[in-house]
Amino acid sequence: MPVTKAVFPVAGLGTRFLPATKAQPKEMLPLVDKPTIQYVMEEAIKSGIDDFLFVTGRGKMALEDYFDHSAELEYHLKEKGKTDLLALVENIACMCQIHYVRQKNPLGLGHAVSCARQHVGNDPYFAVLLGDDIIVSDIPCLAQMMVVHERTGKAVVAVRRVPHEQVSSYGVIDGREVGKGIWEIRDLVEKPRPEDAPSDLAVIGRYILPSSIFPILDTIQPGHGGEIQLTDALRHLARDGQIIGYEFEGTRYDVGDPKGFLRATIELALERDDLGKDLGSYLARLVQERGLRP
Ligand code: UTP
Repeated sequence: MPVTKAVFPVAGLGTRFLPATKAQPKEMLPLVDKPTIQYVMEEAIKSGIDDFLFVTGRGKMALEDYFDHSAELEYHLKEKGKTDLLALVENIACMCQIHYVRQKNPLGLGHAVSCARQHVGNDPYFAVLLGDDIIVSDIPCLAQMMVVHERTGKAVVAVRRVPHEQVSSYGVIDGREVGKGIWEIRDLVEKPRPEDAPSDLAVIGRYILPSSIFPILDTIQPGHGGEIQLTDALRHLARDGQIIGYEFEGTRYDVGDPKGFLRATIELALERDDLGKDLGSYLARLVQERGLRP
């Protein structure tokens, strides 16, 4: 049965991006001129997802408004004959039908996923996409993972090798490579110290999970950082040999962090026909003028 439902946990507080996220969702911060969440939504749509659930929290109304019609703006653009812009904003509202559920307290990613239980219903598997990770690739990352899921019939998490000193920012897998870039996961550790990390393979924010994760999540106690960690529930799947780590193809940006966000902004702008050339010359000039070195 193909995976058609996707869950987007967007209820986090975004503390790494304060003060910008004090009064707006981090998912609405624009990469060039498009909110980060739209990149992730587009990846899901291109991967065949047709049912979207946002797990939202306090202060996230801008997300609902963004994916809805804006009658006043659309009327204004029509009156002024700005048909290109009108089509642009109308298309966003028509992109997809989104469902919403509130996570009343930000108790952790595991808890946010458990809020999707009723919506996922009887589907055996569903996808989870985190807005912090933007992945640029020829074949959408989630579509790549679906192929692995169809082949193995197991849960799949996206993994990527990270520099050893950075493992403590991620969930890290202990696994055995059973095919090129395909890892049978034996265990996972949330944000280990580098000396304790079982590998340098970090879990990135794309998951295909079984609905059997929900009763497991019910049993999970607060773990790292006092939060209900999804990683701790994934460990149960790992013990049963029911989860695969997949080293996806593509460039990944961590846009939940100002450094990764800036990198994504510059690289995505350089790729744009309308901005890339000017920005490239500007950056080259800047590097020369300021004597910047790699
Ligand atoms: P993060 O660990 O990045 O937390 O959450 P955060 O609050 O969003 O950001 P920082 O670390 O404070 O800067 C990973 C994902 O899980 C969601 C977030 O919205 C993000 O997509 N999340 C996290 C929830 O939906 N609920 C939570 O209780 C925690």
